[in-house]
Amino acid sequence: MAFFRTVSFSEPIPTVEGEGVFLRAPQMGDYSDWAALREASRAFLTPWEPTWPADDLSRSAFRRRLRRYAEDQRSDASYAFFLFRKVDQTLLGGLTLANIRRGVAQAGSIGYWIGEPYARRGQMTAAVRALVLFAFATLRLHRLEAACIPSNAASIRLLENTGFAREGYAREYLCINGLWQDHLLFARLAGDAMP
Ligand SMILES: CC(C)(COP(=O)(O)OP(=O)(O)OC[C@H]1O[C@@H](n2cnc3c(N)ncnc32)[C@H](O)[C@@H]1OP(=O)(O)O)[C@@H](O)C(=O)NCCC(=O)NCCS
Repeated sequence: MAFFRTVSFSEPIPTVEGEGVFLRAPQMGDYSDWAALREASRAFLTPWEPTWPADDLSRSAFRRRLRRYAEDQRSDASYAFFLFRKVDQTLLGGLTLANIRRGVAQAGSIGYWIGEPYARRGQMTAAVRALVLFAFATLRLHRLEAACIPSNAASIRLLENTGFAREGYAREYLCINGLWQDHLLFARLAGDAMP
């Protein structure tokens, strides 16, 4: 049935363009910038993310990460992107479109992080807008979901500003920073207007 077909890329995914930013698949050449940015932003990011493994910022863990990203992309399970500023190609952060469910769901979940020096400049808003278009227009998904801890004001604002509607509350939904934490659930449908 054409409506439920799987859209996937065996080749590298194309660059996704946003306003002042672009998203592209992570590459080994990004390692130094990525590790430096994550290390510099450790205290800013860790309250909102799954616990970082002890060797998370090592080159070998990055290589394993890229392998996992490539496998997941080949199987249309998830798509990982790094986020860059257009003007000088600075690495700003990352986004994932994960847990893709095809068949009658045609849904996926988004996640994102930005390096602390680049936060609050609207660049993640531009990136999420671009990812939403990629998910609906290129991957032909029908529904995008996101979840965040109720105290994550930046993430809530970001989702509201990019057309996600709050749909629910899930108790102890994800293990974040070592604790099972309640989450607000948000979603956007392909037919929803972009604010
Ligand atoms: C969530 C995150 C990606 C947002 O990135 P960002 O660069 O601040 O995003 P933008 O500047 O595009 O937009 C953020 C919005 O939230 C607001 N905001 C940002 N930080 C805020 C804070 N600490 N308190 C209240 N509002 C905040 C901004 O003002 C902006 O809203 P506005 O345009 O209406 O003024 C970033 O804060 C981050 O990486 N946080 C740590 C990791 C994380 O939380 N990941 C998501 C887990 S669900």
